[in-house]
Amino acid sequence: MNEHVTLVDHPLVQHKLSIMRDKETSTGQFRQLLREISQFLAYEITRELPLENQAIETPMGPMDAPMLRGKKLALISILRAGNGLLDGVLELVPSARVGFVGLYRDEQTLEPVEYYFKVPDVLNERLVIAVDPMLATGNSSVAAIDRLKEAGATNIRFMCLLAAPEGIARMRQAHPDVHIVTASVDEKLNEQGYIVPGLGDAGDRMFGTK
Ligand code: URA
Repeated sequence: MNEHVTLVDHPLVQHKLSIMRDKETSTGQFRQLLREISQFLAYEITRELPLENQAIETPMGPMDAPMLRGKKLALISILRAGNGLLDGVLELVPSARVGFVGLYRDEQTLEPVEYYFKVPDVLNERLVIAVDPMLATGNSSVAAIDRLKEAGATNIRFMCLLAAPEGIARMRQAHPDVHIVTASVDEKLNEQGYIVPGLGDAGDRMFGTK
């Protein structure tokens, strides 16, 4: 779409996303579809991982075979909804290191406040993929990325299922170096900060809470 955003518009992704949006879709199905879509998003977001040739023997003889080079990538879940994107990605990249950032919104100041932060070491040498299904206002995602940069991350991408134009603009202004990969850019945010048409509260829908 532009150099900051990649839209994964594969027909299977769009079909699965439409089922997720439907309010009649069950918690179990929602979770399974999110896992499936996360693998398409991971395919796209890892496209430029560096490779190096290593000598192996196939049953037919020697070969210089391309293998991933460098430190394992770091997958960072922005709690709690980010956890819904973890398992699918880890199936594709089982050696990835995993971190968690927990933020809540202070009701008085409306600013994000950190309550948990645990990330892999040497973030500066890793591709860091921050995951959160919904890029809405962008406040928590931007705050999470602020913290990842403070912890040393220099090569960060952001994976989400849905993005609002307002969230993309906020991310672009705060972190123009962070590329966003999403399955949809929806119309807008409503007054409560929900994405429209969206799918409701992603955390509630995946965990069956209200
Ligand atoms: N978070 C959600 O879970 N849904 C939205 O629409 C916006 C933020």
